[in-house]
Amino acid sequence: MHHYEPSLSFWVTHWARFICMVVLVVTGFYIAQPFIMPDADLSAPVNFLQAKLRFWHIAFGMLLFSATLIKTYLFFFSKSSSIERMSFSNVWSLKQWVSRIWFYLSLNGKLKDYGLYNPLQFVTYLGIYIALYGIIFTGLILAVHLYHNGMLGFLYPLLRPFEALLGGISNVRWIHHLLTWVFLIFLPIHIYMASFKHLYKKSYTKAHA
Ligand code: HEM
Repeated sequence: MHHYEPSLSFWVTHWARFICMVVLVVTGFYIAQPFIMPDADLSAPVNFLQAKLRFWHIAFGMLLFSATLIKTYLFFFSKSSSIERMSFSNVWSLKQWVSRIWFYLSLNGKLKDYGLYNPLQFVTYLGIYIALYGIIFTGLILAVHLYHNGMLGFLYPLLRPFEALLGGISNVRWIHHLLTWVFLIFLPIHIYMASFKHLYKKSYTKAHA
């Protein structure tokens, strides 16, 4: 088993997106169902908690968008990602699928490593990227209605046809909400499996030392 040291760009785009996702899930659920309310200020209506949290939601949404674009570029073109690109061949290897599924079923057996991701992992991450671009795309469709300058102003006429194609703004909001659950389900499994991999490697090397 080779030892993998993530590059700085890998590390930054990974943890930046983790922070974004935590902030986006919390603020997103607040937007959907405002679960706390500031005391009413009777002298002036200045308690715009929903608007403030929506602002932070969009800000972190843009950060997620940027980090995802950068990571996508790196995956295809950076030298440090060649080990990730190499993993693609696992997806076409029946041997890799069988040995990996057998490993998870039996928690035993030898694993053949090639590249960074096993086939199940590669296909899962591909699904996660489809969900990521889906939540970003629907998020942008929602956001062009809230802010009309700059990039969002530029995107407004381009995204309106897709809004119609997706069945209108209320449907877009529903799809965006549904995709949130992809990340809520993915994150604990991902954290568990990443920790498990390290623990397994440690006990494996100990047992064979
Ligand atoms: C992991 C990423 C994200 C999660 C988990 C997430 C989650 C959510 C949730 C749960 C809602 C409430 C939907 C509802 O009312 O039922 C929401 C609303 C919204 N999201 Fe996201 N979101 C994410 C990414 C983004 C991105 C990338 C953008 C834009 C760049 C964005 C823009 C918006 C906007 C503008 C709304 C407000 C819709 C409204 O005012 O009704 N979101 N988000």
